Amino acid sequence: MKKVLIILLVLSLFIPQAFAADGLVVETTFGATQISQGIHNINGKEYYPLMAVSEALGAVTYENELKNSMFIISRDGDTASHTVGNTFYVFNGSVMQMSYPSVYDEQYGILVPPEMIKTMFVVKIEGNRIIRDMYTNFYNGLVSNLLQYCIYGDFYPENFVRYYSFYCKNPDMDPGIVINSVNIGLDKTWHSDAVIAENTDSKQVLVNKLNRLPENHEAKNLVPVGTLYMKYRNSGYMLDAEAYYKYVEMYDAAAKEGIYLKMVSAYRTEDYQRNLYNSYVRNYGQAYAEKYSAQPGYSEHQTGLAVDINSLYTSFENSKEYAWLKQHAHEYGFIERYKKGREYITGYAYEPWHYRYVGTEAAKIIHDTNMTYEEYYAVYLYKSEYSLDKDRVWAKVLQIFHK
Ligand code: DAL
Ligand code: ZN
Repeated sequence: MKKVLIILLVLSLFIPQAFAADGLVVETTFGATQISQGIHNINGKEYYPLMAVSEALGAVTYENELKNSMFIISRDGDTASHTVGNTFYVFNGSVMQMSYPSVYDEQYGILVPPEMIKTMFVVKIEGNRIIRDMYTNFYNGLVSNLLQYCIYGDFYPENFVRYYSFYCKNPDMDPGIVINSVNIGLDKTWHSDAVIAENTDSKQVLVNKLNRLPENHEAKNLVPVGTLYMKYRNSGYMLDAEAYYKYVEMYDAAAKEGIYLKMVSAYRTEDYQRNLYNSYVRNYGQAYAEKYSAQPGYSEHQTGLAVDINSLYTSFENSKEYAWLKQHAHEYGFIERYKKGREYITGYAYEPWHYRYVGTEAAKIIHDTNMTYEEYYAVYLYKSEYSLDKDRVWAKVLQIFHK
């Protein structure tokens, strides 16, 4: 009896229920799903509702804010993106042509020619039925592991393909770490993948081996540094006005405790940095130079927001000045920028003397969490294309996962 029941139960999965005649029906080995819409006929051409069909086939869909562009991850882990009005879509990185462009419908969203549905999801179309005979693979395990993280604030859908390919290269890595690593650019190649830094006049600008300053960028609001604050009186340093004002406050507070914080470097022009970098290469070789000196255009010193304090030797970490900075620099908006053990993130060797002004709010978070600026930037300052729309994107992803 039990056996019969089970057989009936299994069979019932394959028996299409009675569906409205004009709605599309998606049939797979897991059962049939009806979509309330049918095939749209516009000027004698057939169109399918991309979002509804994708979801009925169990794909994860992301729509941009303007709702004119979609990114889809199928159950097989295939990815596709398409923007309304184009006669092509991008499928696993390749451009696929269609014979006519998609259109946008206020009520049903993006409507696409049947050929896009057929190729992307490997389905047959018979009348109102979209038939998927076999799944080659339910979500590939890596895709599904990554998607569990879509509820977190630093899951950026536009980075998904990069998450996936980094994860494929590091399949034993925790998927949360995969996401974090990609967000901070660990899948990229220093210098050759660099882009021009955003918001170059902001105190929050991120300058590193992946974010360079525009050619011959000159910092604004520079002020001359008073002799009291320089280790060598005639150094003629300049610093960003706000950073300088906070430095002076910090200097005074430390001086009250008998700690004297003297600058040994401050603002540098691109030319100055070029000479410095070249002299490192000449004196110590390329590999060493890369660890301790930024290439011209890639230095934080060129923003007027970075200072080197007291020493240029790693032994500075044992000084009372360093101990004071470690405890108090953030109260004045400064962070230790090139932390010990984080060379793989920052791109530079441990530099206990290099401090970066980011403002007190950011500095406190960075100090309390012991993050690098790269990590802080990825979590707090990066603006995802989807940030306005996150709740909806996540709700959708979750809905697919928990059914
Ligand atoms: N020493 C740091 C990395 C610079 O040259 O900007
Ligand atoms: Zn420095």
